[in-house]
Amino acid sequence: MERLQKVIAHAGFASRRKAEEMILDGKVKVNGKVVKELGIKVSATDRIEVEGIPVEKEEPVYFLFYKPRGVISSVQDEKGRKAVTDYFPEIKQRIYPVGRLDYDTSGLLLLTNDGEFANLLMHPRNEIEKEYIAKIKGIPSKEQLRSLEKGIVLEDGKTAPARAKMLSLDKRKGTSIIQLTIHEGRNRQVRRMFEAIGCPVMKLRRERYAFLTLHGLKAGEARELTAHEVKQLRVMAENS
Ligand code: URA
Repeated sequence: MERLQKVIAHAGFASRRKAEEMILDGKVKVNGKVVKELGIKVSATDRIEVEGIPVEKEEPVYFLFYKPRGVISSVQDEKGRKAVTDYFPEIKQRIYPVGRLDYDTSGLLLLTNDGEFANLLMHPRNEIEKEYIAKIKGIPSKEQLRSLEKGIVLEDGKTAPARAKMLSLDKRKGTSIIQLTIHEGRNRQVRRMFEAIGCPVMKLRRERYAFLTLHGLKAGEARELTAHEVKQLRVMAENS
């Protein structure tokens, strides 16, 4: 037996919170009857409908994808640009990305049809590390790197402590490569942090998400997460 909102979220219909709203709004039926209470439990034999559409219990799937640059992190794009899910034509489940990477950012992106898992990982209180490699304009001083680490005041508040390391620099071109590790996931955060120290990002790639890396993958390739990796991520997020 599982909670109704969890089953709806797992089926890829909505986040758990949205599923709760839909239940309260009377949009959900169990065995033909509208159910408005949260927390009722349903079994595999119960027939669930959301706004008249039967909820099929999908097998949960979890992918680690190396997103190329020039691809949008959503299921589809109204401007007709390439979307991350275009790389999974053979997957019948309705998968969607866990968080997002900018159109111009490449790197590690998780995709799943497990709404609850996605919400757990994306919750702002979770402290999952994300490591980025940025090619930037300019050669930041030690103090500038230190300020990235201590926290930078952006328009949506000060950033949490981070780690910044210079990997290489090109004096002639006036550019450098920096590894920046952050815990948060604000919109365009890395680009805005570098912007704030006067070193705009020229290229950005996410190298690592928690213990997961791009190892063995080329841009545009994906692999399934192992059951153990999914479990580890869940434990990390639940304990943070
Ligand atoms: N920070 C950014 O600025 N862009 C991304 O795509 C991810 C993190």
